[in-house]
Amino acid sequence: MQLLHATAEAVPFAKTGGLADVLGALPAAQAALGHDVLVVHPWYARLAAVPPPLWIGDVPVPFDGGHVTVGVGTLEAGGVRFAFVGHPSFQRDALYGYPDDARRFALFARAVPAVAARLAFVPDVVHAHDWHAASIPALLRHAALLPPGFSGLPSVLTVHNAQYQGWADAADVVAWGRLPGKLAGPLALHGKGNLLHAGLRTADRVTTVSPTYARELLQPAVAYGLEHAFADLGPRLVGILNGLDLAAFDPAADAALAATFDAGDLTGKLVCHAALSRELGLDPNRPLLGVVSRLADQKGIDLLIDALPAVLEQGWNLALLGAGDPALEAALAVAFAAHPDRLGGRIGYDEGLARRIYGGADALVVPSRFEPCGLAQLIAMRYGTLPVARATGGLLDTIDDGRTGFLFATAEAPALAAALARARLVRDDHDRWRGMQVAAMAARFDWARAAHAYDDLYRDLVAGPRSTPTASGTAVGGPALDQDPAS
Ligand code: ADP
Ligand code: GLC
Repeated sequence: MQLLHATAEAVPFAKTGGLADVLGALPAAQAALGHDVLVVHPWYARLAAVPPPLWIGDVPVPFDGGHVTVGVGTLEAGGVRFAFVGHPSFQRDALYGYPDDARRFALFARAVPAVAARLAFVPDVVHAHDWHAASIPALLRHAALLPPGFSGLPSVLTVHNAQYQGWADAADVVAWGRLPGKLAGPLALHGKGNLLHAGLRTADRVTTVSPTYARELLQPAVAYGLEHAFADLGPRLVGILNGLDLAAFDPAADAALAATFDAGDLTGKLVCHAALSRELGLDPNRPLLGVVSRLADQKGIDLLIDALPAVLEQGWNLALLGAGDPALEAALAVAFAAHPDRLGGRIGYDEGLARRIYGGADALVVPSRFEPCGLAQLIAMRYGTLPVARATGGLLDTIDDGRTGFLFATAEAPALAAALARARLVRDDHDRWRGMQVAAMAARFDWARAAHAYDDLYRDLVAGPRSTPTASGTAVGGPALDQDPAS
């Protein structure tokens, strides 16, 4: 099949989190299954592409009542074609965090069909990821001025994180996309434009990145206002667990590590532990907890901060790498300064240090309030670093409590401290700890399994009727939008 992915991030070109890991690996796994895969991605100022994409010209994109010109770049990597959408609004220091983010990514989404057409690529299925690309299903169903072959193409929307939704004015969402004005209301959520909601209402299938998160998305606390939209999807919402790029994350061949190792010989891990402790100025004779995380409310780092007295009391050191919320950054800096030989790390984004933490720590703390899948715990397990994690979303689906890691139920510091205490006891039992390390390293979450699961979904979609009417026949469901006379 010809598959088109639209994403705001993909390794190695741009990354702020696991979305980039997924789009750096899934398309290649699909190409390995024989598919012809195109990934469309913004052309950011700081695109990590060496050599840079080949610029092949400009295309006009219908947008906001007129046309906007975008540049098109292209390159091939890992058997996958990439197309980059160039526009001045992507020439900024950071990927996100600007007041016009919704507009910028609505333009990206609107550009995707035109850019694919410029490459003479008409897909069988369009697969959009997260809010940045979520308006594409609505465009394929309802927008004017699509290139030949794109109108009505089957669409899949994968929700990697439902907290980020792309809020805007309802009128803007339809104006930007050059969608029928009558859709402003049905696509909106509580009267506000919401790009993720627009995608949920119009995609043929919605997937998310673990089965447990798919179930949790029916709860208001996890769905952030989208719980009814998820519930209305019924069987059209599916959880497909992410994989891990086992070649990109391999402790036996990771050049960032002080020494390599594998499950058969963990001596190199001791070298990594000593080197990391030295690098961060930590007492090397203590067991070491690691954290590699965005510092966002989702990640529960405040629980860890509250549990720091217990961490110290239990005898752990802590190596933390993360950036994000300034209040959390400041609280961590204070803690580091108060216990320089026990707590250390760096506020920032650092791929090398992340790998040294995965390699050198004994356990990785992942106290997430919610976690759609989580890549950090998968990387940690591959590096023989046992996750101590909250039993939610993909953490629950990937960690086997007491065998490959340690889970705790409630998002509260005492529960985290108790799980750390359990881990600490096992850590003192060398053989048991080693047994868990070996089990964690053997738990292979490869991408081939997920690629096959997406295959089944696509085939079903291409073969059958794409939408099944919702039980309630609600006026805002995807099928009902189809019947909108304005479309
Ligand atoms: P999320 O996508 O919600 O941030 P994941 O666990 O799915 O969480 O993926 C996070 C990815 O980003 C992992 O590859 C992790 O190693 C990486 N990462 C997170 N924070 C940092 C950081 N400060 N420096 C380097 N890598 C980071
Ligand atoms: C999101 C989620 C994370 C997931 C990643 C890749 O960033 O927060 O849990 O692993 O997407 O799907």
